[in-house]
Amino acid sequence: MNINIGSIQLPINAATKTFAILAKRGAGKSYTAAVMAEEFAHANIPFVVFDPIDVWWGLRVAADGKSKGLPVVVFGIEHADIPLDRDMGRRIAQAIVKENISCVISTFGMPKTAQRHLIAEFADELLNINDTPRHVFIEEAHEFVPQRVMGAMAKTFAAVEALVVMGRNRGIGVTLINQRAATLNKDVLTQVDTLLAFRNVAPQDRKALKEWVEAHSAEGDFDQFMKSLPSLPTGEGWIWSPEFMGVFERIQIRKRETFHPDREKLGSKFEVPTLEQADIQSFIRRFRTAPAKTSDEPEVAAKSPTTVPDSQAIIALRNEYERRLMEKDAEIRRLTAIVSTVRTALGDTENVSVMANTVPPSAVQLWRSKIGNGLAGKIFDLLASNPTREFTKQQIAFAVGASPNAGHTANEFAKLTKTKLMVRDGSLYRLNPNL
Ligand SMILES: Nc1ncnc2c1ncn2[C@@H]1O[C@H](COP(=O)(O)OP(=O)(O)O)[C@@H](O)[C@H]1O
Ligand SMILES: [Mg+2]
Repeated sequence: MNINIGSIQLPINAATKTFAILAKRGAGKSYTAAVMAEEFAHANIPFVVFDPIDVWWGLRVAADGKSKGLPVVVFGIEHADIPLDRDMGRRIAQAIVKENISCVISTFGMPKTAQRHLIAEFADELLNINDTPRHVFIEEAHEFVPQRVMGAMAKTFAAVEALVVMGRNRGIGVTLINQRAATLNKDVLTQVDTLLAFRNVAPQDRKALKEWVEAHSAEGDFDQFMKSLPSLPTGEGWIWSPEFMGVFERIQIRKRETFHPDREKLGSKFEVPTLEQADIQSFIRRFRTAPAKTSDEPEVAAKSPTTVPDSQAIIALRNEYERRLMEKDAEIRRLTAIVSTVRTALGDTENVSVMANTVPPSAVQLWRSKIGNGLAGKIFDLLASNPTREFTKQQIAFAVGASPNAGHTANEFAKLTKTKLMVRDGSLYRLNPNL
């Protein structure tokens, strides 16, 4: 199954990749992102939209403006299922991870400081707890990751940047949507895998797009790209995806299946259909009654190294591999749910072995490939194949054939604990269950 956005198909693991949709107002940014969201919904991949302009509730309504659209919960002020407040960020993250439901967080009408606080807490929490492929769309991205970061915005900036840079390790993909390429932070922008550029007129914005392309050492007809930008028709643009897909081409976005609220065209005549939808009502009820919990300290973000473009064969292999990992993860979650249902039915409330399955195989694979085959790699293999067990240093050294008191052993232990791949409790070590 692919993500069909019109003249081009994206591999399914696009859900865990990062995109920037950059274009002038009215050129088709929100429309394009909504097409992606529709495709994720069809593929059963949950998504979240941070929507400060209050247009994404349209997903709930079919394109005709009357019939039922997609089952998406809307948090917000207008058009909302659940009233939104500034301190709800962590709770929303917890609830959507628990139930794997898609939602729109419509912050329209909230003060900007409240919007920033909300997204910071949401992003921070999601990065800590996400356990399934999930996509986060952020409209008006320059409000959260601006080119110039002022003091009060540092917390939001750090949280959203971490989501973009570290999210992939947690199965989180992000799409940043913005009118001005120039006002979006360049350090964050250069980290995204794929650029979707539509009509862009302002010279500063075209310059920022040029810099993105240069930073990615992408190949293609760059002059034609730059020349076409100011006059692109609505819904037409370019995709640059040097590492993820190995493509650079002109694209046309397909028509939406859901409703696109267009404030200018709608005027005051349009009546929003009631957003009642049976399949999300139980989520809404549970959310309204569940108590909030608190979470741990945020993780420190690390920059991923820049990569060089790969050959098409490698790109295809990697995408196929990631697609299979996603399938396996889904299968494991399904089986874990069955195991826990059976356990509950049998009256066993301890759920001990379910812990073992909370580290997704894709996380283990990812880190495994980074560690190499030295001593740290052997230790990691031992812990990963015994994810619920704790060992003493002596036991680990004995198991992997290392000397427990050697400086080299201490260094490799430090490497694993510093990166939080391994956690220590007194004299006992184990695989980080929140990997
Ligand atoms: N792919 C498309 N096909 C058809 N119409 C489109 C397409 N993309 C955009 N439009 C039209 O252009 C208008 C503006 O698009 P929108 O996505 O809201 O712009 P932006 O988010 O860039 O400001 C939409 O209301 C819609 O009528
Ligand atoms: Mg828009």
